[in-house]
Amino acid sequence: MFPSILSHSTSTKLENRICKATEQTRSQDIDGEDIMADQDYLKNIAIVGAGGNVGSAALKHLLASDRNFNITILTQPTSTSTFPTHPRLTIQKGTFTDPNFLHSALQNQDALILALGFRAMDLQPHLITAAVSAGISYILPTEYAGDGLNEEMINAVPVFQPKRLARQQIASLGGTWIGIATNPWTDQSLRLGLLGIELFARKATLYRDAGKFNMSTLDQVGLGIARVLGLPVKNEGGSKRASLEHYGNNFVYISSLHVTQREVLASAVKATGTSEAEWEVDEEDTVKDWIERCKGMMARGEMKGAMGLTFAYYLGEGLGGDYQAKAVEDMKVLGLREGDLDAVVKAEVEKGPMRPLFG
Ligand SMILES: NC(=O)c1ccc[n+]([C@@H]2O[C@H](COP(=O)([O-])OP(=O)(O)OC[C@H]3O[C@@H](n4cnc5c(N)ncnc54)[C@H](OP(=O)(O)O)[C@@H]3O)[C@@H](O)[C@H]2O)c1
Repeated sequence: MFPSILSHSTSTKLENRICKATEQTRSQDIDGEDIMADQDYLKNIAIVGAGGNVGSAALKHLLASDRNFNITILTQPTSTSTFPTHPRLTIQKGTFTDPNFLHSALQNQDALILALGFRAMDLQPHLITAAVSAGISYILPTEYAGDGLNEEMINAVPVFQPKRLARQQIASLGGTWIGIATNPWTDQSLRLGLLGIELFARKATLYRDAGKFNMSTLDQVGLGIARVLGLPVKNEGGSKRASLEHYGNNFVYISSLHVTQREVLASAVKATGTSEAEWEVDEEDTVKDWIERCKGMMARGEMKGAMGLTFAYYLGEGLGGDYQAKAVEDMKVLGLREGDLDAVVKAEVEKGPMRPLFG
């Protein structure tokens, strides 16, 4: 039996491709519910952007997964990325604006992970069109940011809007998307001081109207992607949430930490071996004023404003950066555990400062 969300032709293709475990053994999902081992699983996963931050984390965990996925990396001839060698890994090199290349490279794939960098986003619509036309069952568009189902947040934050368009494109072509919500990545946002805590300058702005927010390590994001693609297509007799059927045209909420700025600062003080007295801490500013400043920067065409606005919405109380209630449910299904804030901050302090993403 195949999910009703799939068209007949997609179902047939999927039927021919997906891995059917033949053993009659049973395994347990994270909820402790039985999952029959003879259910249908995805087998062939294609990935774009596999040398990047999200892509390389996903690739690592897909290759390590006990689902034994066959992985196909699509990469452009101009790419400077290097990829591991693995018996279940194939590399297809070609131009993403070439429909013939994409048509052939995307044959027999069950899922496509799109993890394109900011500067390559104009390529995504070509990949989506080709993926739907190749009958790929699940497309993970380049999300890896905030809660895409929070319309108010998406409407307010311009960098989220192309992500919504990508989901709309997939749906309008008859495809199925899975959105991966990650909120800020600890890895970049801590080293770049994007959470208001500048680890290396020892300065902090604790916004009066900031609240608790979720954030994820890149490793957790990669693991989450591998785990969701490892779910059965349907979980007959078990929790629907533990199935791809639940996540089709829906979001997966990944998180490593659910914290306040004050808690991040306390960890930063510890990780840098300083006392708070050695930090310059501003507790007067508000997210509300920060948002206005960011809008001003954007009006002057400064990319920093767009980035700042994104983080203002992650941090501001009630603006959408706290998706803990949904993350708790998804992390249970995916077997993901929360991280240790002190350890995460210490690891980023040890990596040292990072070059800004935008001037
Ligand atoms: N939540 C957060 O804190 C956060 C932070 C940053 C980004 N993001 C989101 O995550 C997405 C992925 O970010 P990332 O940091 O993983 O991306 P990335 O490492 O900068 O790039 C990912 C891949 O995209 C391809 N690529 C990059 N620039 C290209 C160009 N100019 N032309 C052609 N291909 C190019 C490359 O693929 P090959 O490996 O095949 O060469 C690269 O490895 C972003 O688009 C953004 O939406 C979220």
